[in-house]
Amino acid sequence: MQTLHAIAEIRSAVRALRADGARIGFVPTMGNLHDGHLALISEAQQHADHIVASVFVNPTQFGPNEDYGRYPRTLAADQTGLQSAGCALLFAPDAAEMYGRDADAVRVTVGALSEVLCGAFRPGHFAGVATVVTKLFNIVTPDVAVFGEKDFQQLIVIRQLTAGLNLPIKIVGLPTVRADDGLALSSRNQYLSDADRKLAPLIYATLQAIARRYGEGESVETLESYGTAQLKQLGYSVDYVAIRDAETLSEASREREAVALVAARMGATRLIDNLRIPAV
Ligand code: PAF
Repeated sequence: MQTLHAIAEIRSAVRALRADGARIGFVPTMGNLHDGHLALISEAQQHADHIVASVFVNPTQFGPNEDYGRYPRTLAADQTGLQSAGCALLFAPDAAEMYGRDADAVRVTVGALSEVLCGAFRPGHFAGVATVVTKLFNIVTPDVAVFGEKDFQQLIVIRQLTAGLNLPIKIVGLPTVRADDGLALSSRNQYLSDADRKLAPLIYATLQAIARRYGEGESVETLESYGTAQLKQLGYSVDYVAIRDAETLSEASREREAVALVAARMGATRLIDNLRIPAV
């Protein structure tokens, strides 16, 4: 696997890979890779001949009081993991390479979808994500790109972005990879103290209870209040517990697939998770 830091280099390496008509799969990441990321690589391998990954901690998707500065940067370990997973190329630019002198000059925004749920609590976050993903798509020009369903709203935003800009890229979502106790794998889990790590699987347990009770006919309002109360009782500061349509994130209806979503903070650590709920 080659690691390339410059846009011109990755463009020409991708061009060479594609020379014989091969399909390019892309897995964008912020690094500090865990089994969830490696599952994205193996999913991409089902759809493409050569896999390109990126590692870039994107400053424009972090708010001023968020964890950009302390986000774990582990490029050497990431390279080892990606190489063993069979990745062909790793693009690992720095912020100057990606944004030049003025990171705020250009923003790609994805309307209303970006303003609800996480967007309401992290203003500008999805514009940062949409901007960097558009740039990465334009640099790597993949045929298919794979994203984790753990960041459910991000996946929907990226689907809308890709459709809205007519990008010829197939977007594949991969179900969340979980630890044995149910906690969704995330680079941010390592911020948790031992005591908080023990409590964290209860987020998924709460989502499971919500999904079951929704299927039994309880109302969205009752279940959102139930989930919020459960998590508050455990010591979480709850940004939201919501049940939404799984395709549009608008109001859920029982004839369509829904999704239960949670964002909650334990101290300075913000955890998100979700669970799809089949149509009834
Ligand atoms: O999900 C992530 O790791 C990031 O939001 C992404 C898609 C790589 C954009 O920076």
